[in-house]
Amino acid sequence: MQVGEYRLENPREIETPELLVFEDMVQRNIDAVIRICGSTDRIVPHAKTHKSADVLKLQMAAGFRSFKCATLPEAELLVRHGVDEVIFAYPLTHPRKIERFAALKKAHPNTSLKAIVSAPEHLEALSQAMRRGGMELEVYVDLDTGMRRTGVQPGDEAASFYIQAARTPALRTLGLHVFDGHTLYKPDYDERKSLVDQSIAYMRHVWDAADAHGLEADDNVAGGSWSFHLYLGEPNVRVSPGTWIYWDSRNATMDELPFEIAAVVLGQVIDRDPGMDTVTTDVGSKACSPDQPIPNRFTIVGHPRAELLAQSEEHGVVKLNGEKLDVGDFFLAAPGHACTTTVKFPFANVVDAAGRIVGRYNHDARDH
Ligand SMILES: Cc1ncc(COP(=O)(O)O)c(C=O)c1O
Repeated sequence: MQVGEYRLENPREIETPELLVFEDMVQRNIDAVIRICGSTDRIVPHAKTHKSADVLKLQMAAGFRSFKCATLPEAELLVRHGVDEVIFAYPLTHPRKIERFAALKKAHPNTSLKAIVSAPEHLEALSQAMRRGGMELEVYVDLDTGMRRTGVQPGDEAASFYIQAARTPALRTLGLHVFDGHTLYKPDYDERKSLVDQSIAYMRHVWDAADAHGLEADDNVAGGSWSFHLYLGEPNVRVSPGTWIYWDSRNATMDELPFEIAAVVLGQVIDRDPGMDTVTTDVGSKACSPDQPIPNRFTIVGHPRAELLAQSEEHGVVKLNGEKLDVGDFFLAAPGHACTTTVKFPFANVVDAAGRIVGRYNHDARDH
């Protein structure tokens, strides 16, 4: 089959639904992010999108040395492959997880393993674990610039927490961590830009307070795929997008970035209902972006008017709206969210430029 840029020689070779990753597109996405940021030094890619040693190796071959992660299996994968720096960008509170984190740090002194903090409980627990292990931990203060998920509130609260963190034994405060998830799914550039400008203003307030107390705050990490490029004017900020490696149909509604949707789900039409103008496919919620509203869970490549109407675990009902798809047809579903699609599969089938399946990217850090 050939749909636009996507070529797959023999869809019957694998059972559906299956995840395909087009290797040339991944490589072009890597080249594009480096071009946008000027060098790999400005980027701390999040590993959550691919969770794969195979993709990590491609990123390392392109020069990336620093990575972000949200889970211990991701951190362990990164450390095992000898990256220089891992930023554990998820609040550590569970005593067993803190012990596992501390043990990982102790066992791999050549990787700089760092954490984020935003509550006195984080400071206390991490400080104790580091003192027990005779180590020092470099931390970023997580600043909530509007997402309302994690992070200390901006303004004087953030400034005084920064000073408290810097005074905590066995912790060394480097700067701020910002994930501005409130910029997600806002295709309007000006609207997103003003949200990022606000984030930068909140960051400046803390930088000024740190400076007034003689504290360092010159290593900061901010942004995801919807915003990272808007922070690049700040020389003391590195950026941390993750989804750019595969891209997806929701991110593609932002047209200023050149990334390609490199990961798609191969599906098949399994039934039809002409009275409803629908076909039923085998791309259910167990195969594609279950965290998105139903119409956004996937689009069908080459069939722009087709619309996902309903989904159960192994079924996806698609309204055709004039598109031609019928029982037995194969199609490519472009996920609305790449990161929650990869984890649905133990591996991705790697497809080369000729449309041949030439290998697998294993999802090594798929589970918690
Ligand atoms: C803390 C953190 N940093 C970075 C990212 C990467 O953002 P994106 O997936 O938009 O590239 C995420 C995404 O969820 C995140 O939670």
